[in-house]
Amino acid sequence: MNKEKEPKPNNISMQGLRVQPYIHPNGTLQQLPQIIIIGVRKGGTRALIEMLSLHSAVAAAQNEVHFFDWESHFQRGLPWYLSQMPYSFPEQLTVEKTPAYFTSSKVPKRIHRMNPDIKLLLILRDPTERVLSDYTQVFYNRLQKHKHYQPIESLLVKDGEINLGYKALNRSLYYRHMQNWLQFFPLESIHVVDGDELIRDPLPEMKKVERFLKLEPQINTSNFYFNKTKGFYCLRDHGRERCLHDSKGRAHPHVAPAVLHKLHLFFHEPNKKFFELVGRTFNWK
Ligand SMILES: *[C@@H]1O[C@H](CO)[C@@H](O)[C@H](O)[C@H]1NC(C)=O
Ligand SMILES: *[C@@H]1O[C@H](CO)[C@@H](O)[C@H](O)[C@H]1NC(C)=O
Ligand SMILES: *[C@@H]1O[C@H](CO)[C@@H](O)[C@H](O)[C@H]1NC(C)=O
Ligand SMILES: *[C@@H]1O[C@H](CO)[C@@H](O)[C@H](O)[C@H]1NC(C)=O
Repeated sequence: MNKEKEPKPNNISMQGLRVQPYIHPNGTLQQLPQIIIIGVRKGGTRALIEMLSLHSAVAAAQNEVHFFDWESHFQRGLPWYLSQMPYSFPEQLTVEKTPAYFTSSKVPKRIHRMNPDIKLLLILRDPTERVLSDYTQVFYNRLQKHKHYQPIESLLVKDGEINLGYKALNRSLYYRHMQNWLQFFPLESIHVVDGDELIRDPLPEMKKVERFLKLEPQINTSNFYFNKTKGFYCLRDHGRERCLHDSKGRAHPHVAPAVLHKLHLFFHEPNKKFFELVGRTFNWK
């Protein structure tokens, strides 16, 4: 890790509360995250956190913590949040990911109050693809419970118009959510990972992430190998090989071409607004 940016002191304070760090006899401790992957749902957050934990200076929380977006968790306070973090060595950086943070309007303020200097990672995919993927996940969840789910066309379009009430659609209006975050954090604190690129060719995107986090460059080509059967990259970590869960590469439903076209047109303006906000463009249809 870069020495010029020391991690913050490990004692934490919020609402007058102070907690002394507890250092385990094996030299590890739990730390509040210095990095949070805030979203987006179906953007590739699992792949990103798995790839980030290839780096020896990073300790990643296993589960989605949902601290800042779920009231029942948030009310338990920072000591509870801390207790959800992995054991790490003091010089390591802790990261958690909760994809729902990005689209929850109360979250930016809460994270800012904990640590205004925190580094945020946001992984995005083509908004149309993201909607289809979002639908697909809910569809399979319903299927497992033997429940019926509406065809995607009837959710996307109402009375001939794109249905803004469909939550999956709203989540893909990236500029709206980004505006909330930029009220509390400067753009320099939020690194946007191109999720389509991360799947296609992970290493260049991960090198950008290392640079943003000021990590010593460590992740390299031998950390990835292409699995032809799956059609995407798997990870190699100290000789241990692992691929992401099969549901991650699930086929999207067939969507009527006219509806797909409508969707692409619909996202044109919102995407443009997003590109203006972040000062860069993405290769979205
Ligand atoms: C240190 O101890 C903690 C708590 O028992 C454990 O979870 C962690 O895996 C240990 N880490 C190392 C590097 O031994
Ligand atoms: C879309 O999401 C934003 C942010 O969560 C919310 O404020 C807004 O009401 C939603 N719009 C619709 C039409 O549901
Ligand atoms: C890639 O990283 C691994 C683990 O850090 C290291 O052992 C290996 O020598 C590196 N390979 C290259 C080609 O740099
Ligand atoms: C490649 O993917 C297939 C299909 O999911 C899996 O059975 C196999 O174990 C994977 N091979 C490697 C080397 O990861």
